[in-house]
Amino acid sequence: MAVSVLAILLACSAVASASFDKEFDITWGDGRGKILNNGQLLTLGLDKVSGSGFQSKHEYLYGKIDMQLKLVSGNSAGTVTAYYLSSQGPTHDEIDFEFLGNVTGEPYTLHTNVFTQGQGQREQQFRLWFDPTNDFHTYSILWNPKHIIFMVDDMPIRDFKNLEGKGIAFPKNQPMRLYSSLWNAAGGRPRCGSSVGTEVAPGTGAAGEWYNQELDLTRQQRMRWVQSNYMIYNYCTDPKRVAKGVPAECSM
Ligand SMILES: *[C@@H]1O[C@H](CO)[C@@H](O)[C@H](O)[C@H]1NC(C)=O
Repeated sequence: MAVSVLAILLACSAVASASFDKEFDITWGDGRGKILNNGQLLTLGLDKVSGSGFQSKHEYLYGKIDMQLKLVSGNSAGTVTAYYLSSQGPTHDEIDFEFLGNVTGEPYTLHTNVFTQGQGQREQQFRLWFDPTNDFHTYSILWNPKHIIFMVDDMPIRDFKNLEGKGIAFPKNQPMRLYSSLWNAAGGRPRCGSSVGTEVAPGTGAAGEWYNQELDLTRQQRMRWVQSNYMIYNYCTDPKRVAKGVPAECSM
C-alpha cells in the first residue's frame, strides 16, 4: 500500500467543468495514484516499491499553470516532487519545477530547468524564503510567446526570455503536456505525510492576461532580490560550465 500520499486538488476557476477525470490520466504507479471525490481530488502515493504520476490528456501551446503544493515534512531525503511541461521526441521542449527533499531540519532544493529543441542543461536552483512543509504555496509556470517565467507565490524567480532574434531557440511550436509525479530517487524507506494540492489553469493561447505578460520594473527588481539572496546554483556561473563555454543566453 502507498504510505506517503500526495493529494492534488483541482480548483476549477478557469476550466468551468474541469475534473481530474476529464483533464488527467494517472499514468504509472500501479494503483498508488487515485482520482477521488468525483474527479476533484487526485492523490499520488509513494512507497518503497514505487512512486506514481499523472499527465494531462490535452496538450497546450502556451499556458499558465499554478500548482499549490505542501511538501512532505520531516525526513524527505531522496524524494523528488516534480511537475513539468513537456513535448515529445528527440528535439522536445520542456519546462521543469522539481523539489528535492532533505533530511529532517534541512532545506529543500527547488530545481528549475528549460529544454529547447532537446537541449537542456539550463539548471537554476534556489532555496525558499519560507518552510514549504508548513503550508500550501503556489508554484507557477507562465509560458507565453516571449517569456517563460517561474514564480513562487507570485514572486518571479526566473525569466527565460525569447531570444530567437539572437539565434537562441525558444519553445513555441511544440505543444506540451503537463506531467506531475512523486518518486524516491534514492529508493529508501517510505516517507509519510506528503500533501500536495494543485490548481491547474492551463490555457491554449486564446485568452488570458498571462498571454502578453512581462515583468515590469518592480517585479524585475523582486526577481533580482530572490536571485541574489536565494539562488544556490546557476548554470551560467558554474565554473565547470564556464570553462567549457556557457550557452549564448548567459551573456545577454
Ligand atoms: C540538504 O541540506 C544540506 C545542508 O543544509 C544542503 O547542503 C543540501 O544542499 C541539501 N540537499 C538538498 C537536496 O537540498
